[in-house]
Amino acid sequence: MNPDIHNIVILTGAGISAESGLATFRGPDGLWEGHRVEDVCTPEALARDEALVHRFYDERRAKLAEVQPNAAHQALAALDAQWPGDLLIVTQNVDDLHERAGATRLIHMHGELKSALCAACGKAVPWAAALPPGTPCDGCRKPALRPDIVFFGEMPYEMDRIDAAVRDADLFVSIGTSGAVYPAAGFVQTARHVGARTLELNLDPSAGSIYFHETRLGPASALVPDLVRELLA
Ligand code: OAD
Repeated sequence: MNPDIHNIVILTGAGISAESGLATFRGPDGLWEGHRVEDVCTPEALARDEALVHRFYDERRAKLAEVQPNAAHQALAALDAQWPGDLLIVTQNVDDLHERAGATRLIHMHGELKSALCAACGKAVPWAAALPPGTPCDGCRKPALRPDIVFFGEMPYEMDRIDAAVRDADLFVSIGTSGAVYPAAGFVQTARHVGARTLELNLDPSAGSIYFHETRLGPASALVPDLVRELLA
């Protein structure tokens, strides 16, 4: 790999967790675990049927106990531990597999299953169990805790920090994401604009493949360890 690479930004999506046994969002049937995304992942859905939305994320949270990080999460954690320059892993995933593999330079831009958010005061708290509707916030006491998931129409987390890192990047890598959801899908264009090398690792070409200097097709569990070996060589 090019010795001029110091600052790396890595964007991950559902494809990196697929081989751990977690469903991706845009499968062949277009459903996420049997649900249309707009029935479980919008503020309107939460207002219309709070119990359904909570139950859906309770099931996803419970499923985390049955899965383990795979070789791709582990390789990124090794890169995080050993890379001497700046590195930021930006994940769209709400699972906790990156941190369970040991990654620390990590942002969950779409929220986290293992967190609950107070819809009244905005306080977030770690949450491991089921989250019944009407659970009170331990800060403001209002019965307003909801899953800490960034729904469609809501602002992803830490956009300023992500934007700054992408603008400083020498290498931008996108792993296991379909490139269908903005703003994450647009990071590659910003990275190219500032002169970064851009690389995509995915099972199939994504919606944004044309923006990448290079696309490598295959399973993340093989492609990511290969890339990390190249970077650390
Ligand atoms: P998608 O389900 O849209 O895309 C997953 C991508 O992973 C596809 O391009 C697959 O080809 C690829 N893929 C599948 N298995 C793979 C493997 N073993 N190795 C490598 N690639 C593989 O998921 P995302 O792009 O992450 O938002 O979806 C983006 C956002 O849409 C999600 O964060 C979610 C959803 O609505 C929220 O929950 C807010």
